[in-house]
Amino acid sequence: METEKRTQISAEQMDNRDLSEQIKEVTKDSHVRAENTELMLSFQRGQVTLPQYKLLLCSLYEIYQALEEELDRNSSHPAVAPIYFPAELARLKSIENDLEYFYGSDWREKIVVPTATLRYCHRLRQIGKENPEFLVAHAYTRYLGDLSGGQVLGRIAQKSMGLKSCEGLSFFAFPGVSSPNLFKQLYRSRMNSVELTAEERNGALEEAVRAFEFNIQVFDGLQKMLSVTGNEHQESSTNSKAVHSKTLP
Ligand code: HEM
Repeated sequence: METEKRTQISAEQMDNRDLSEQIKEVTKDSHVRAENTELMLSFQRGQVTLPQYKLLLCSLYEIYQALEEELDRNSSHPAVAPIYFPAELARLKSIENDLEYFYGSDWREKIVVPTATLRYCHRLRQIGKENPEFLVAHAYTRYLGDLSGGQVLGRIAQKSMGLKSCEGLSFFAFPGVSSPNLFKQLYRSRMNSVELTAEERNGALEEAVRAFEFNIQVFDGLQKMLSVTGNEHQESSTNSKAVHSKTLP
């Protein structure tokens, strides 16, 4: 009886808690797993290589194109409007600049991504069309990550690859955000202002775990591409797809 009562109370407390707290909690284990992927470990050890970073940029390009197109299209949706900050957060243009820096002006023809990236993008577009109230989970996973660990990773990447100041690293720079910590506080409070039914909230929490999972699969896919092709990717790799042929396996 006593145990039953306690369980009920904690379930109620769980429901009353802010979305930002819940989302952090449910993705805690996934975050640890993401940090421990080979690619993220290379970053943390200061050993990230140019082929690794270039290939990561290709996938980030596809991911942010899908994410930002869906956020733009749903910008007035009640579950998107409060967390819609294109001026502060949008990454697509920065990634395009970085890709041009590394691959040259014909970078669009050189984009290669693992199939995991295509699956992630497919999901983002599906969510944008069918469940825009879950976009918050994807935006949280990428943007708050970029504003957190991503800031340290940018400095490490610069040193590891011997790049001059910001060259090829605009992805990590947020000129529209003067204090990442304050901005994250604002973002969390906006997330908490989104009105979701209990069912929608659970769906959003599940989607956040899925978003982390997609990222982990992308990182693993990138590493496989690099190991198959001996640190220099090629378009015919069995683990990759040139994005012009965007078919899913
Ligand atoms: C937050 C480190 C990779 C998503 C953070 C924080 C740190 C961190 C220090 C701040 C924690 C806090 O304020 O309490 C790292 C490191 C990584 C890494 C060292 C890899 C080398 C990732 C990846 C993702 C991610 C791959 C997702 C794709 C997030 C998110 C937050 C976060 C969403 C915000 C958590 C919250 O305050 O709710 N990370 N991270 N991180 N990270 Fe990472």
